[in-house]
Amino acid sequence: MTTFNDDNLTPNEATTEHFQEILTRVLASPSRRRILKGGIGLTALIVTPTFAQSLAVTPTVTKGVGSTGLGFNAVPKSLADQVILPEGYVAKVLHATGDPINASVTPYGNAGAETDDWSQRIGDHHDGMELYYVDAQGKYSDTPTQRAVLVVNHESSADAHFFHANGQTSNGVAGKSFNQFGNWDVGYRPGQEVLKEINHHGFSIVELDLAADGTVKGYKLDGQLNRRVTPHTVAQIQGPAKDLADIREFMKTKFDQTGTTVRGTINNCGHGKTPWGTFLGCEENWATYFNIPNGQTPPTDKLAMSNKRYGLPASALSTDTKRARSQGWFTVSDMSDVDGRFSRWNLAASGNGPTTDFRNEGNTFGYVVEVDPLNASASLVKRVAMGRLAHEAAVCSLPQAGQPLAFYMGCDSMNEYIYKFVSDARWDPKDIAGGISAGDKYLNEGKLYAAQFNDDGQGAWIELSFDNPKIKQYSAYRFENQADIFVNTRIAADAVGATRMDRPEWGAVNPKNGEVYVTLTNSNAKMRNVSTVDAANPRAYQDMDGLKGTGNPNGHIIRFKEASSQSDAKTFAWDIFLFGAEEDMPAEVNVSGLSAANSFSSPDGLCFSPSTGILWIQTDDGAATDETNCMLLAAIPGSVGDGKALSIKNQLGDTAREQKTFVGATLGDFNLKRFLVGPKGCEITGMAETADGKSLLVNIQHPGEKTPARGPTAQYIFQSQWPAKASDAMQYGVGERPRSATIIISRIDGGLIGT
Ligand code: FEO
Ligand code: CA
Ligand code: CA
Ligand code: CA
Repeated sequence: MTTFNDDNLTPNEATTEHFQEILTRVLASPSRRRILKGGIGLTALIVTPTFAQSLAVTPTVTKGVGSTGLGFNAVPKSLADQVILPEGYVAKVLHATGDPINASVTPYGNAGAETDDWSQRIGDHHDGMELYYVDAQGKYSDTPTQRAVLVVNHESSADAHFFHANGQTSNGVAGKSFNQFGNWDVGYRPGQEVLKEINHHGFSIVELDLAADGTVKGYKLDGQLNRRVTPHTVAQIQGPAKDLADIREFMKTKFDQTGTTVRGTINNCGHGKTPWGTFLGCEENWATYFNIPNGQTPPTDKLAMSNKRYGLPASALSTDTKRARSQGWFTVSDMSDVDGRFSRWNLAASGNGPTTDFRNEGNTFGYVVEVDPLNASASLVKRVAMGRLAHEAAVCSLPQAGQPLAFYMGCDSMNEYIYKFVSDARWDPKDIAGGISAGDKYLNEGKLYAAQFNDDGQGAWIELSFDNPKIKQYSAYRFENQADIFVNTRIAADAVGATRMDRPEWGAVNPKNGEVYVTLTNSNAKMRNVSTVDAANPRAYQDMDGLKGTGNPNGHIIRFKEASSQSDAKTFAWDIFLFGAEEDMPAEVNVSGLSAANSFSSPDGLCFSPSTGILWIQTDDGAATDETNCMLLAAIPGSVGDGKALSIKNQLGDTAREQKTFVGATLGDFNLKRFLVGPKGCEITGMAETADGKSLLVNIQHPGEKTPARGPTAQYIFQSQWPAKASDAMQYGVGERPRSATIIISRIDGGLIGT
C-alpha cells in the first residue's frame, strides 16, 4: 500500500542496544571516523575479490530462460495513465473494485451510489493472490485441471472516499478522508458507509473462466465457489495445544468470552500458498483501524506497552496523536451494533473487565490467517504460533517428504524483523488437498524464529521461546508465558537482538534451489542513516532527483540459503541480490549497476514463476515516481554467493562511513528487465499464473492514490481514471473514479510469459 514511508505505520523505535549499535559505537572511534563536507559521497566502491562464500555454488540452468535470457524488450519508464507492456503482449481486466461476485448484486456504477453492504462485491486494494486448481471431486489439485479459483487479498481503506457519492461523511459533513495517518475529527459516521468500508477488506474468492487451452478468459459471475471473507467472518483461534488456554486469555472479548473465536481479517497484504492447497492471508496494517477515545488509556502497563509497540493507541489521543488513527467506524449510531460490529473498533476499557468490552480486540489481529478456498464450510483460522506482526507474507520452503516445512515472514515497518516458522510435523505428500485439517497439523505446533544477519555474510535463526533467558528475563516487558511471545512477537524479537531491517515486505522461494528472497522496500534517515547502516542494510544516502527521501529510499532485496538447504536450519548464508536505484545515481547508490532498462525503486511484491523460474519483482514506490510509475520487473537470479564482497562509502552531510557487505552477481540488462509499468498513482502487487505459464495475473492497486478526497463542493481532481478511461485497449467499467484491479497478461503468440 501507498508510497515511500507511508506504509511504515509503526516504526520500531525501541531503545534496546543491538549488536549492530555496539559495532557502530566501536567503529565510531576517532581513528575510524572521517569528516567530509558536502552532500552525498561520490567515492568509488571498494571491491574485495577474495571473498568466498562458505557454501558451494552450483551453476543451474532455468527451464525457459536460463540459456536464452529474458525474451522481451524492456519497457521504458512511464508516467502515463495506462499499463505499459512489452511488444507482443496484451492484457485485460479480470475484475476490479466493486464488481459483483454473484448475479443478485447490481453491476458497479463507480459513483458511490451502491446501497448494498459490499459483502457480495470484489474488495478494494487488490494485493497478494493465488490460483488453485480444482479436481472433479471439488478438491485441490496440484496439477492443472479445467476448473480454478482465484483468491485475492484486499488490503487497505485508504481510498474509501471513492465508495461514497461525496466522499466519507462525518458529523453529517461529506468529503472527509479518514486515511490512516491521523484524523481525529471523527464525530459520528453513517452505518451504511461504514459497512461498505469494512466489507471491502478481506479476501475475494472467485471461479475463473478457463479456455480449453487453460488460459484465463475472465471470472464466473455464477461460480459455485464465489464468496467473500471479510472483517465480519468468524475465525477460530488456533495454536500449540499446550499454549492454547493461555493464548485464549489474550483473545477474550465481549464477542466471545472464552477467546475461542474472533472476528474476521483485515488489511491483508502479502500471502502464502500451502502445499496442501489453502491460502494464507497476512494481516499487515491492522493497527490503524482502532481507536481509544480521548482521556482513556489501556488498563494495564503491559497492554499499554504492547499497544504502543504495535502502533495501537497507547494513551489518550490528545497526548499521543501520532499513534491515534482510525476510520471512525466505532462512532456509528444510526444502525444497531449487533455483536459490537462497530464498537469493536474502539479499544476503550469501558466495562468491568476484558469480557465486557473490546480492550483486547487489538490482540485478535496481526496473524497469518488460513482459509480453504474450496470449502466454504471450513473454518477461517488464525495461526497464532506464526506470531503477531505487521505480517507481509508467509512463503513456504520447498516441501520435502519427511522434512519440516518452513514459512518465511516479514514484518513491514522500518527496523522490523524477518521471521520463520518451522513446523513440528514433517511433510507428507498425502496431505495435498488436506484443507484446514492439514493446516492444523502443520501450522499449530512448531518453532518461531527471528533472523540475525551477521556482518560476515552468515546469519542465525534465534528461537522466540520462553526458555530463552533473554526473553524470560527481558526487563522492558515481562513475558508471562509462550502465548505472550506469540501475541507480542515484536517485543520478543527486540529482546533477543534480531537484526532491524529496512521494512521487510514479501518473500519468495526459488523453486530451483530453495533459496529465500525478501524485499526490503525502503527506510528513512531517522531509521537508517550513516551511523546505523549494517552489513545487511548497508546504504544511507539522499535521493538526488526530486529529493524524495533520505536513508534507503530505493530499498534492496536480500536473499539467503539455509545451512545444508534444510528448512529447520539454525544458520544461513546471505547476500544482497539487488539494490533499487535510479540509473543516474552514483555508484555507491546504484550498486547493482541498473540501467534505464531496469532501474527500479522500493521492491515490494516478489514471486517466482514455477513455469519459467523467472523472479518477478513488483514495486510500491514514492522515491522515483518523479520519473516513473510503479512497475513489474523480471529477473533471472543466480544463487547466494555468486557475487562478491564490497564496501559501500556512505555519506550524508558531514558524516561518512564505509560499510562492508556482500552482493550477488551483477545481472545486467540481459537478466533484469522492466516488463510492465502501471497507471498513475498505483502500486504493482500480487501475482499468479496458470500452470502452463501462459496467463499471468497481476494486481494494479490504488491507481490515482493522490486523488484528494472530495469535499462537499469541490470536484475531484483525478490523478488517474484507470481503468474506465484507460487510454488503451484495457478500458474497463464505467465512470471516472480509479479502481484497483486484477489484470490478465498473455502473449499474442501464445508463448510462455517472459521468455
Ligand atoms: Fe501492504 Fe507492506 O505492503
Ligand atoms: Ca534520475
Ligand atoms: Ca506490500
Ligand atoms: Ca527521485
